[in-house]
Amino acid sequence: MLDEFVLDTAVVRGFVDRVRDAVAGADAPEEACASIRPHFVELLADQAWLPDEYARPAPESGMGGGIGQWLLFRAGDGSLSLFSLVVPAGAETPVHDHLAWGLVGLYRGTQDEEVFRAGRDGLELVEQRGLVPGDFYALLPPANDIHRVRTTSDETSVSIHLLTNDTGCVWRHTFDPDTGAQQPFRSGYVNVDCTPEG
Ligand SMILES: [Fe+2]
Repeated sequence: MLDEFVLDTAVVRGFVDRVRDAVAGADAPEEACASIRPHFVELLADQAWLPDEYARPAPESGMGGGIGQWLLFRAGDGSLSLFSLVVPAGAETPVHDHLAWGLVGLYRGTQDEEVFRAGRDGLELVEQRGLVPGDFYALLPPANDIHRVRTTSDETSVSIHLLTNDTGCVWRHTFDPDTGAQQPFRSGYVNVDCTPEG
C-alpha cells in the first residue's frame, strides 16, 4: 500500500515529513512526541489549512452522535495516520482506546476529556480536564490510552489526531465506564474505507 494523502497540501506533506524525521530520530515515543510538539503547536494555530469538508459532523458515523472522523493522511504501512475528529455540540464519544501512541490537539470549540485506567473493579477515572483550541495531549499506551471526549462549546469541536497506527481501521475497544466491560470497536473513517480484515 502507498501513502495516502487524502488532503494533499504542502502543509500536510510538510507536517508528515517532520513527524517522520522525529520518529526516525527518536529512541522512544516520549522523545518523538517532544520533537513533534512545536510542529503540532504550529498546525493547531493555523486556521487556514483544514478545508471545511473535513470539519463537518457525520450523521452515520462509527463513533455515533454524529461524530465525524475524517482521514487526512495515512501511511501505506499503517504506521501513521492524521485525521480530524468532529464532535457536535453536546455529543460525546464512547469511552475508547487507541492502541498506539500519538498526539491529540484541539483545533476548534471546547471539549472536556475524561481519562480512565483499567482497574480491578472496572474503569477508574484518573483525570478530567477542559480543553480550548491549541491545547493538546499525548497518548502513550498503556498510559492515557482510554478516554472519552465531549464537546462543551455551542459550536462543533474539531480535534486533530496524529497517531502511530491507522486508528480508524484497526480493531480497538469501547468500554462500559461502570463495569469496565470492553467491546471490539472499529470506528472507520467517514471519507475512506478500511479493508475487510483491517
Ligand atoms: Fe480518542
